[in-house]
Amino acid sequence: MRFDLPGSFRKTVRIRVAALNVADGGSSGYLYALDDLTEIRRLEREVRMQDRLAAVGRLAAAIAHEIRNPLTSIAGSVSMLSAIPEMSEEHRHLLEIVTRESQRLNGIITDFLAYSRGKQYRFDKVDLVLLLQDTLTLVRHRMTAENTRIAIDSRIAVKEAWALADGDKIKQVFWNFSENAVRAMKDGGTLTASIERLGDDWQVSFADTGTGMTPQQTEKIFEPFQSNFEGGTGLGLAVVYQIVQAHEGKVWARSKPGKGTTFILRLRRFDAERASSTTSEPENFGMTENSEPEQGMPSSAVAAPLAKAAAEGRVHG
Ligand SMILES: Nc1ncnc2c1ncn2[C@@H]1O[C@H](COP(=O)(O)OP(=O)(O)O)[C@@H](O)[C@H]1O
Ligand SMILES: [Mg+2]
Repeated sequence: MRFDLPGSFRKTVRIRVAALNVADGGSSGYLYALDDLTEIRRLEREVRMQDRLAAVGRLAAAIAHEIRNPLTSIAGSVSMLSAIPEMSEEHRHLLEIVTRESQRLNGIITDFLAYSRGKQYRFDKVDLVLLLQDTLTLVRHRMTAENTRIAIDSRIAVKEAWALADGDKIKQVFWNFSENAVRAMKDGGTLTASIERLGDDWQVSFADTGTGMTPQQTEKIFEPFQSNFEGGTGLGLAVVYQIVQAHEGKVWARSKPGKGTTFILRLRRFDAERASSTTSEPENFGMTENSEPEQGMPSSAVAAPLAKAAAEGRVHG
């Protein structure tokens, strides 16, 4: 049975009823046992999602591999064709379509590969401020080049934000947030990125003034293949989820249709990490994830802090 409590999340409860019978006949009432299954159901959903992510990852690697080779030949041949000087306007237009569509296919494959192969992590002491600024510079250039009416605003409340992380992967997270924000603001708007210190964590947020999402959409965005963007693969945020999990971080979105969306990422501060971690040499260790069966679980080097993090509920998407 499910019910909504005022001011709280929906609860799932199991109710068992047994008649209470006394020895010399007659029933003296009923025994009701109530079990709150909310947390179990949530964990079950999470496990199902992990399973799906793992299966998709294996499939993606195989498909991407098979598609890339013929695609390279197509793109190569087309670029040779378009070098022919005497070509009608119409033919040139057709060739442009082939080029554009092969680029799109290539983009899809790149997403797939990031998703299925992106399991090599190199953890280092990195400055999130620098990573964010790098990404925003790229985004700004793109916005200027493509002549969009999107303003990029940054509110960085700190000088530096050190964390133990894989810098390239974190940039990929920032890039995916930005790319989605841009796509959600077809008619222009503002993307505001910020970093602030919050207890033991850094909180990075990307707020856009785009289309926004319904609660039903928001709930599913981190699952693979959930896309409402034209031509989207629905893998960008699945990759984000994977990366954030490997960092023992948290990521979630707040959104309102017509108002915009804010993505929030929390990563542990480097000094907080040092203070709480007793494993040797937290600085600069390479880390490789198990390829199976538990996707997203880093190897033994950080198994203890990870388990601790899981127990504290820090590991979730
Ligand atoms: N900033 C945003 N504003 C509105 N919708 C968003 C935003 N970010 C993500 N979404 C929704 O989440 C979906 C999944 O995003 P993503 O995993 O990056 O896949 P893709 O970009 O390929 O569609 C998008 O298709 C879109 O429906
Ligand atoms: Mg995307």
